[in-house]
Amino acid sequence: MNLPIASLERVGTADREDFRSAVLAGLASAARAIPARFLYDARGSALFDAICELPEYYLTRTETAILGGSASEIAQRAGPGCVLVEFGSGSSVKSRLLLDAMPDLDAYVPIDISREHLDETAARLRRDYPKLRVEPVSADYMALDSLPAFINGARRIGFFPGSTIGNLTPEEATAFLRRARRLLRDDGALILGVDLKKNSQRLHDAYNDAAGVTAQFTLNLLRRMNRELDATFDLAAFAHEAFYNSIEGRIEIYFRSLRPQTVTVSGRRFAFAAGERIHTEYSYKYDDDGIAALAASGGFAIAKTWTDPERLFAVAWLQAAA
Ligand code: AVJ
Repeated sequence: MNLPIASLERVGTADREDFRSAVLAGLASAARAIPARFLYDARGSALFDAICELPEYYLTRTETAILGGSASEIAQRAGPGCVLVEFGSGSSVKSRLLLDAMPDLDAYVPIDISREHLDETAARLRRDYPKLRVEPVSADYMALDSLPAFINGARRIGFFPGSTIGNLTPEEATAFLRRARRLLRDDGALILGVDLKKNSQRLHDAYNDAAGVTAQFTLNLLRRMNRELDATFDLAAFAHEAFYNSIEGRIEIYFRSLRPQTVTVSGRRFAFAAGERIHTEYSYKYDDDGIAALAASGGFAIAKTWTDPERLFAVAWLQAAA
């Protein structure tokens, strides 16, 4: 689609202002935090792709293997003529495993906040799947209230892979599932990828890789604030910190100030004590009971779970409950 330049600029400015207000609010609050979604600028997205290739980061390759092995069963459960709706599609790499197994899909609806990402992905999918109807929706799936009217008749199958749900607190995850339940309707279902609880060293290592890519991913947020918000973060004066909180069942990620220092962000000054932490991410881990409770809280029931032999990761078919 050809947007006039003025409208493209407005989108860019809105994104910048969204980032600015979130950062200023996050640094002004008592428990300092910056929302995880801001980690994914162009460099952050490339660093996340690199994380997915790390030997310690088992999540992506494990989920890909599970989806590869279960795709035909998933296609069978979905049935012919349904619409596949992906929440936060990115480059739709994992969806291709499902698209390959679902030749009689009515349409594929990737939802992503990044219009650039969406247009690129849709163009590539249309080239590789010439018979498939690709209908991208540019939106924040945490705030989306309806899907395009053209898919009204078809059964809707949601897809939320990657353990992205782990970034959400249990309350946020429930709110997301309720929203998805409404969008997918009474005969719908949601295919959900979830990282499982396991040995805490294994979890720790996945977020503290030897090559330091995850540290670069976290500290890229400082780089982004310097570039987009005229901030003065010294990248050498902060460190990535990630650990497993077994009580809460989550990885917690922060950047930590290595010395007392003052930083300017958008003309405002913020003092950081030595050792002070600024939160960037949670990555919640679930067990079978936790997935079942989460599903129920969102109006779904687990119909089937696929996992790997080591039980590192799970893909669950959540059926809309009455
Ligand atoms: C994209 C949210 C699933 O929590 O494992 C990876 C993000 N952060 N390493 C995760 C992430 C640091 C990732 N998710």
